[in-house]
Amino acid sequence: MAEIKKVGVVGAGQMGNGIAQVCAQVGLHVVMLDVNPDALKKGMESIAKSLSKMVEKGKLQPHLMGVALSMVQPTSDYAALKDRDLIIEAATENLELKRKIFKQIDEVAGPDALLATNTSSISITTLAAGTKRPAKFIGMHFMNPVPLMQLIEVIRGLDTSDETYNTIVAMATKLGKTPVACNDFPGFVANRILLPMINEAVYALMEGVASAENIDQIMKLGMNHPMGPLALADLIGLDTCLAIMEVLHRDLGDSKYRPCPLLRKYVAAGHLGRKTGRGFYKY
Ligand code: CAA
Repeated sequence: MAEIKKVGVVGAGQMGNGIAQVCAQVGLHVVMLDVNPDALKKGMESIAKSLSKMVEKGKLQPHLMGVALSMVQPTSDYAALKDRDLIIEAATENLELKRKIFKQIDEVAGPDALLATNTSSISITTLAAGTKRPAKFIGMHFMNPVPLMQLIEVIRGLDTSDETYNTIVAMATKLGKTPVACNDFPGFVANRILLPMINEAVYALMEGVASAENIDQIMKLGMNHPMGPLALADLIGLDTCLAIMEVLHRDLGDSKYRPCPLLRKYVAAGHLGRKTGRGFYKY
């Protein structure tokens, strides 16, 4: 079984920079790619901010912050991915965009490189079929915020090989995470269950069942959830929540997954949650 030493991460947004960070923290060399130089700069700043939060909380020794940062090489050039053992795509939740990105990755990556997608709902099998290496293709679904969350959902496409699966499970374990296997169905397990709950909370808000604060308080105190569903939606990003609901609705074909009109309205207004400073709450 191959050992992963050099990682590429495509996308420097909140998931991409979190993935780059956790890889760097265990001593893996990371190339973080984003075609947008601004996003790349913000991604590096987020990593530094997250690492210093961990130092403040006593979860990371101060001298290891610089070491981790030095392991991440930001770039906008796909050629920098050519020597990577594993390339993880963490771009926006959009099938056409991901297909285009994987075409570029597939062209530059070495023949033995494994490809993973951090998609939160798009079919692994479909994305794999667009590359020349479906056996070396897998879903690695990290949870947000990546540095704090224990789970990686590991999703096998129809043609993912046992060797690819075993290598990724070993790598996820090395990251200090717990990999849990599931099959390739819309939304996999985490989002198949989480997103309908969030969507229902938005319906409850739209119908005036309670205020946003009270909906969240009820779920926090009554269900022992660390965050209420609306605050969590703001953390995930309302555009991402909507994209996942659209996939569940379209691909499972059941009206119970229809996205709440209020969720659509917030996304249309550009109120996407924490990342834009406003969602169900103001930041
Ligand atoms: N790196 C990055 N972010 C960090 C951090 C770090 N080292 N430490 C804290 N945070 C973030 C939080 O998001 C939040 O941001 P602000 O400071 O900017 O407001 C803040 O720090 C909260 O800080 P706390 O010190 O209070 O954090 P905490 O230790 O109490 O735990 C939490 C925060 C782990 C996020 C906890 O609230 C929690 O578990 N929430 C639920 C998270 C969850 O359900 N995630 C899954 C989302 S679904 C998903 O990711 C899948 C998908 O495809 C959509």
